[in-house]
Amino acid sequence: MITKCLFPAAGFGTRFLPATKAVPKEMLPILNKPLLQYGVEEALDAGIYNMAIVTGKGKRAIEDHFDNVYELEMQLQESNKEHYLKKINQIIQNSTFTYVRQKRMLGLGDAILSGGALIGNHSFAVILADDFCDGYESGVISQLVEVYKKYKCSIVAIEEIPLNQTSNYGIIEGDLIGNTRNTYQVTQMIEKPDEKKAPSNLAIIGRYILTPDIFEVIKNTQPDKNGEIQLTDALNFQAKQGKVIALKFKGLRFDCGSVRGYLKATNYLARKKGFDR
Ligand code: UTP
Repeated sequence: MITKCLFPAAGFGTRFLPATKAVPKEMLPILNKPLLQYGVEEALDAGIYNMAIVTGKGKRAIEDHFDNVYELEMQLQESNKEHYLKKINQIIQNSTFTYVRQKRMLGLGDAILSGGALIGNHSFAVILADDFCDGYESGVISQLVEVYKKYKCSIVAIEEIPLNQTSNYGIIEGDLIGNTRNTYQVTQMIEKPDEKKAPSNLAIIGRYILTPDIFEVIKNTQPDKNGEIQLTDALNFQAKQGKVIALKFKGLRFDCGSVRGYLKATNYLARKKGFDR
């Protein structure tokens, strides 16, 4: 039902400079795999095979990563190193990648709008690959797809954060639905509110299912004081019409756009995979 996943990956990644001067943030590895590949694997796990990537200047390594390298394959063929390419080759084999460039860095809302040409008139998933997620029983996108099947509206993944961090996130106001303990009908969303103005400590993370009317809503969304079009503001419009559900997902999330979050994700995965022994 959800057949496409959009990956906004055009941002400058300024918090990770100078590493991100020539290397796209989304290509930074956790252990031996780039952040974006984890995201693509999460989409595939949810049965989504069309990857639509919004890129920008200096991001060509992304296209090269999801493409065959004939010389390298020939070199490794029938050697004891062939397995290193197995997973990425499976991904290339099983998925379709399309790309569009965001013309100017005008924020996440604008990046999603740029991706519209690759999506068409269908609901779609969105993954911000710099939010590295490890779902407990299933990937976060799979969890959102399950909720989408029931409610057929936009779905956002949320997590509880310390109240003094609300100014770093989009924050929701909402009511728990029925006897669920993790699913909210969203009544309002605010981008990066002060602790005092935050309606809750439930923060939106980089996983969404969006209905295609979002493109029209984004077009009518005013830029913020920095000239950026915020996805949260567009979603707030849908929320006020009762068209946004939030799911407190089961799993862990690391903000790999920051050095601290990246380090935590690396340590977490190294321990989980036994690389620290
Ligand atoms: P971030 O704000 O985390 O990314 O945007 P950034 O701007 O690259 O990072 P800093 O703050 O400068 O360090 C969240 C996601 O939205 C994408 C980014 O690539 C990232 O995946 N994005 C953001 C765009 O694609 N275009 C934009 O104009 C802004």
